[in-house]
Amino acid sequence: MKRVITGQYDETVSKLEEENSKVAYEAAVESFVLLKNDGALPLQDKKVALFGAGASHTIKGGTGSGEVNNRHSVTIYEGMKNAGFEITSEKYIQRNIEEEAKAHEKWINENKGMPNAASLSNNYVLKDPDCISEADLTESDGKVAIYVVSRQSGEAADKKLANHDFSLKDNEVSDITLLYEKFEHLIVIVNSGASIDLSPLDDLKISLIFYGQAGQEGGRALADVLSGKKYFSGKLATTWVKKYEDIPFGNEFSYLNGDLDNEYYKEDIYVGYRYFDTFKVEPRFHFGYGLSYTEFEIEALEKKLEGRKLHLNIKVRNTGEHAGKEVVQIYASCPSGRLDKEYQRLVAFKKTSELQPKEEEVLKFEIDMYSLASYEETFSSYILEKGDYVIKAGNSSADNKPVFVIENREELVLSKHDSICHYDSEYEKLKNNNVWEYDLEGVERAVLDKNAIVTRTYKYGKPAVYSDEKVDRIINQLTDKQLADVCTGVGTMGMMDTNVICAPGVAGKTTYKYLDKGLMSVTLADGPGGLRLVRKTAVSKTGRIKMFKGHYLLSFMEVMPDWALFFLKPGKNDTVFYQFATAFPVGTNLASTWNTDIVEEVGYAVSKEMDKYNVTYWLAPGMNIQRNPLCGRNFEYYSEDPVVSGKISAAMTRGVQRIEGNYTTIKHFACNNAEDKREFSNAHVSERALREIYLKGFEINIREAGSKSVMTSYNLINGTYTPDSYDLCTKMLRNEWGFDGVVMTDWFSTRPGQGHTDVAVANGNDMIMPGDKVYAKSLKEGLKKGTLSSEDLRRAAANIIRSIVYSNVAKKYSPEDFK
Ligand code: BGC
Repeated sequence: MKRVITGQYDETVSKLEEENSKVAYEAAVESFVLLKNDGALPLQDKKVALFGAGASHTIKGGTGSGEVNNRHSVTIYEGMKNAGFEITSEKYIQRNIEEEAKAHEKWINENKGMPNAASLSNNYVLKDPDCISEADLTESDGKVAIYVVSRQSGEAADKKLANHDFSLKDNEVSDITLLYEKFEHLIVIVNSGASIDLSPLDDLKISLIFYGQAGQEGGRALADVLSGKKYFSGKLATTWVKKYEDIPFGNEFSYLNGDLDNEYYKEDIYVGYRYFDTFKVEPRFHFGYGLSYTEFEIEALEKKLEGRKLHLNIKVRNTGEHAGKEVVQIYASCPSGRLDKEYQRLVAFKKTSELQPKEEEVLKFEIDMYSLASYEETFSSYILEKGDYVIKAGNSSADNKPVFVIENREELVLSKHDSICHYDSEYEKLKNNNVWEYDLEGVERAVLDKNAIVTRTYKYGKPAVYSDEKVDRIINQLTDKQLADVCTGVGTMGMMDTNVICAPGVAGKTTYKYLDKGLMSVTLADGPGGLRLVRKTAVSKTGRIKMFKGHYLLSFMEVMPDWALFFLKPGKNDTVFYQFATAFPVGTNLASTWNTDIVEEVGYAVSKEMDKYNVTYWLAPGMNIQRNPLCGRNFEYYSEDPVVSGKISAAMTRGVQRIEGNYTTIKHFACNNAEDKREFSNAHVSERALREIYLKGFEINIREAGSKSVMTSYNLINGTYTPDSYDLCTKMLRNEWGFDGVVMTDWFSTRPGQGHTDVAVANGNDMIMPGDKVYAKSLKEGLKKGTLSSEDLRRAAANIIRSIVYSNVAKKYSPEDFK
């Protein structure tokens, strides 16, 4: 079968790579969060002593499907050197580079070919650097030292408390203490995809930076922020707790209570700051918090309640002496009544443009009453309870003040729903009985006109099978058996399949059996940090893919037994080609920018690479709620807050889908909040928490940006595997939110013992990934058994065919070309 290769045949840096690295740089700059500044920043001096594992081995992003095989990632060491800093700890750095290389090699040799070595959760972890010696200290002069703490994590495993994944190690603390004693200023940088416990540093007067995992340009971006050429403007999108025990029911998370089969969401709606603020538990750093090199004044100007919308104009003035950007965050405290309420919830946010000293900008907000409503389970309704809704503006969850009060004189029903995802067990949920007291003197108020709220009653049912001329022309030629192939991908080897679209490394591919009927085959590629493809590959004349050492798709593959890498050795006559994709800052970083414009640009940059390499579905963004800092995939996700997750993901979708026929796949729908044994974990969660927290971000994305694809998760919710869930795949997505794209499974999530292929397709999960004959057979059997109707199969296939005929590749190629 014919193929199209769009990789390049040499290693020159393309114009697109250059352009995209600029976007990655800008996004990284805006993503760093300055947590403490002892006065050292911006650095006055170019002489810096640099230490810690992450200095020369800065982690750009996590492992697993979130990995990106980019050309080169700039470390903090390299970035600082290139920016003209004099690194006075050169010997320490060089020693660690050598030792790290040896340790890595040793690990590969020790693990090579081990039965459990080749698994997603088995990745090399940076070696602890040598302790800082007396000689290191004597050699490193200057006034400023930097220590970089790094943590790695990835798919299929949660972080382990015992491994210090969430706390500082003794050697790190003793090194940091040594540096603190010797240098006038110490800057500690946290290079991790999520928060860690920094208790041992609490009493030190230091500067502290959350670097996150800032992608391939992170080191360069940080150097410019440190020098003051750029500035900090990131804010935490997730609360940093003082100690792990402060997390509600944290001791029951994942492996910690020994029960990996059940995850009880006992904290209910009190996730992240909603818990800490309501129950008055002081975190180390609040949600929304982040310093800059300047100061801002936030002032509410006009406020107007018009119908069900509140319009707010907020003025931000740079009152300091340095340029900067501020994030205005609007919170609401809603009255408790029949339902208990969190102390406050974020309802909107916006970032200013760059403001010079004394410059000001007015940000305009429009807040719909839906964002103030709560879900009442007994009557399956979103309601606005009677009472005062206090609207507050500020720049963190801790620093905001009332600017307006909406007075609601009677309970109003915004919408009526079918209840979804019924509990499968009873367990006690966290509640609070607080009544919030505010000093509202002088704060403007207005009464909500009850007539402005017209109750919306949702209608449910399977949507009509999609039909238009292009889709019908294909679907009408296909039998049920053939439609079963359309709904299942080509299988695991899709990653290395060279037929039709040849883009090695893609995670999946749709069938190419029906090219003669006009149905093109398209590809799907990970993931949230950027397009995951193989950087360098060879393809033989017969279409067999070979891989080069050091160019594996996933880092764990370096320990694959040699026999499994039979395709390793390229032959003389094979065609060698390259696919260079950009590693952008990870999800946690992108959310920390709070800048939807820049995230949209990241999306557009990814989309251009999708177009170049003919990838139709991008398996991103990941937007699960960061419920607990130990979740192994937090780095891929955005925030503990659904509004941040929703708005940031919507921006990403707008960017990607700006090119017609390129689709985002928002994932993992839903409640994939832990990784250990993720395929068998049952998330017990209330409908209210589901709707207000765990599904809300997905809802915002679909309503505001219309992602054309959704990936269901591995786990169960209240006893039902998510791909099998009619409530999720049809009622929520399609009936309530108007989703009109393709729902796909996560990889192998309907294999025996997990979800059910036929049931999933019947219930609205259109595509089974990565698929293969076995799954297609299950669909055919389902048709026979009656667990899947022809109409349901046709509905799913029509959704897929629709996405293919309007895809990027369908614009460029004709199925005829590949026969
Ligand atoms: C991950 C998904 C990913 C898929 C394809 C799964 O293991 O959970 O997020 O998109 O693999 O690589």
